[in-house]
Amino acid sequence: MILIKAGGSAITDKKVPFSIKDEALAELAAALRDTEEDVVLCHGGGSFGHPLAARYDVCGAITSKTQREGVARINVAMRTLSNRVCEALNEGGVNAFALQTSAVMTTREGIIDWSNDDLIRQTVQKGFVPVLYGDAVHDAALSFSILSGDQIMLHLARTFPGSRAIFLTDVGGIYTTDPKEDADAQRIDHVTFGRLPFIEAGGSGDVTGGMRGKLNEIARFGDAVEMVDIIGLGEPGALARTLRGEHVGTRITR
Ligand code: ADP
Ligand code: IPE
Repeated sequence: MILIKAGGSAITDKKVPFSIKDEALAELAAALRDTEEDVVLCHGGGSFGHPLAARYDVCGAITSKTQREGVARINVAMRTLSNRVCEALNEGGVNAFALQTSAVMTTREGIIDWSNDDLIRQTVQKGFVPVLYGDAVHDAALSFSILSGDQIMLHLARTFPGSRAIFLTDVGGIYTTDPKEDADAQRIDHVTFGRLPFIEAGGSGDVTGGMRGKLNEIARFGDAVEMVDIIGLGEPGALARTLRGEHVGTRITR
């Protein structure tokens, strides 16, 4: 199984609310159409999820009327983004089948405590690409919480042993520092899971922690997968080459 996280930065412009990168979605569709592998796709909230989470303070316990309005708006926005992603995939020849994350996963204090893994598995077995996404989900302690696509990927990696995981973002991998802030930042071609916590990475101000949150999550993949690749979706052919096994961006191994 290949587990792919299309980061919000890869498929939307995080600086422009409700923007979509159509070319990136076409690139994703082309690469998925041409692979024989079983794939589970998960995408981030990007310009649909994060601005709403920030504006309505959807973070920690959901107790206020404003926060509940935020949860309701995120529920709609994420289904809209999921529809746009699935439409682009279907147009590009990939049979995508969306699974609304908040209907198949729940959390307790922000950590997944239930997931309908059988439905995900069945969707793959029937020849579809299940599409999950970071979402506002029911939480046993907090009422609702924002579940990141990165945490969903960790859950999938543990659920489907022997998988490969690929993270698509708007930069070509992990760099020594944020490449958008530092012109001298160098791409790190290879790193071990254990070294990830020591890499300098920004939080982007996102509720789910940006690149820092992503690296902290991926540091925990080592017990579930042999290898994680982080690559840029904007680089034409990069995903197709990674799916063929080539080392394109940053490769993380044990
Ligand atoms: P996504 O939305 O794709 O899941 P994020 O927006 O959370 O990803 O993180 C990607 C962003 O992280 C990049 O656009 C980059 O500017 C920033 N970043 C911060 N530190 C680093 C780093 N050390 N290496 C790569 N990118 C970094
Ligand atoms: C966040 O998911 C989901 C919402 C804000 C609703 P992610 O944390 O996986 O999103 P990206 O990839 O950073 O955009």
